[in-house]
Amino acid sequence: MDSFELNKIAGAVLAALLIIVGSTTFIDIATAPDHGGGEHEVVGYELPKPDAAAASGDHATAGEAAAPAAFDAATVAGLVAAASAEKGAKLFKKCTACHTGEQGGANKVGPYLWGVAGRAKGSVDGFGYSEALKAKGGNWDNEALVAFLHKPKAYIDGTKMIFGGFSADSDLADIVAYLNTLK
Ligand code: HEC
Repeated sequence: MDSFELNKIAGAVLAALLIIVGSTTFIDIATAPDHGGGEHEVVGYELPKPDAAAASGDHATAGEAAAPAAFDAATVAGLVAAASAEKGAKLFKKCTACHTGEQGGANKVGPYLWGVAGRAKGSVDGFGYSEALKAKGGNWDNEALVAFLHKPKAYIDGTKMIFGGFSADSDLADIVAYLNTLK
């Protein structure tokens, strides 16, 4: 046997080894349960689909998974007429740390709210409003009040009113119904 013959044999053996090792490795990869077993067909999890609010670009409300439907100020404003001003009066206790509601009431941390329904935004003389609120424009109609009290900072980016807002439509309708009685 010359060395050429030996080389051919060695080459054949190496090739056979390669095929055996390669194919068993391939079989291992193809049949191995992934890390620690389990029949995991899908790796990872499905991301939640963006809801209507996210799709409309309103990032402030995106991810509020509990909300059954997208918030719509006009729809909630339509509930005010039939809402409970008595319940709203109770909710108003959350406001009295910063606002008065009675006629002739003073400004506190926030402006007095007597007559707020329908009045021009940022129009109480002598109260130091934020630039953001002064720039908002328009009157405090029911829809504007609902939108503001739902999420003050979403409605007026830069407002200095530190209040988280009401998420329940019924609370919003009730508090705005109460504000309508302050006249
Ligand atoms: C922590 C204090 C604080 C609380 C609590 C608070 N507000 Fe205010 N509110 C403010 C401040 C401050 C402003 C002025 C905001 C600005 O200039 O950006 C304001 C402004 C307002 C305005 C605009 C008035 C105007 O003249 O333009 C309304 C309406 C209002 N608040 C309603 C409410 C209601 C209703 C509640 C309770 C549900 C409430 N706020 C709770 C501090 C507060």
